[in-house]
Amino acid sequence: MTRRPFIAGNWKMHKGPVQADALAAELKRLLMDFTGVDLAVAPPYVSIPAVVARLKHSGIAVAGQDLHDQVQGAYTSAISGEMLVEAGCSHVIVGHSERRSLFGDTDEVVAAKLRAALRAGLSPILCVGETLAQRDAGRAHDVVTGQLALALAGLSPDQVLGITIAYEPVWAIGTGRTASPAQAQEMHATIRSWLSDRYPREVPATVRIQYGGSVKPGNARGLLSQPDIDGALVGGASLDATSFRDIVAAAG
Ligand code: 13P
Repeated sequence: MTRRPFIAGNWKMHKGPVQADALAAELKRLLMDFTGVDLAVAPPYVSIPAVVARLKHSGIAVAGQDLHDQVQGAYTSAISGEMLVEAGCSHVIVGHSERRSLFGDTDEVVAAKLRAALRAGLSPILCVGETLAQRDAGRAHDVVTGQLALALAGLSPDQVLGITIAYEPVWAIGTGRTASPAQAQEMHATIRSWLSDRYPREVPATVRIQYGGSVKPGNARGLLSQPDIDGALVGGASLDATSFRDIVAAAG
């Protein structure tokens, strides 16, 4: 089975509505021809309406960067999955390492958010990844499979089929230091075999595993040519339309 590559840009806290609209317009123009690759961008919440309007009929999906696990309520500053859907999002990032490390999202919180995303009908991109200390201690594979186990516990095979997993080693995010293609492939293979051990064959064969962490035009081809790397979750390089296009071209 061949998995369609899936490249997503996580804009993090960059691009207010005006700049986001301009970037989306450029992306729409540059990415029109890449029909063999699934594409998404995740702007800050306030820029979602502008980006959704601009990317209509472009084939580029719009994602939230996070969500709250409740539908609505007294949760000042929070946004629900249902609100993201209403605003035109089809995807949402869940468990990004910056949410985990800077905002205190625990594995339990991540699991609740993942369920909330599925409840709302969003396609989640579930992020997992180890810190440098965990890798140096030889615990990288245990940490990542442990995060998966806690996030996916109790979900049906059908629910897991709707999830994209993003392996983002924390030490490679925003550092310019990327995992080598071999290092990334090794972890992706571990994730796929972890899925194989627990779910029907269709799940490991279908679920896409993105790599994230300093993906740039110069290293994208090496990473994306690995058998178990099905796409990328791109931070910094997704803020420049040409760089993002070049990464997408490396996948297509
Ligand atoms: P960078 O590509 O800037 O390292 O960010 C990766 C990331 O965190 C994407 O979610």
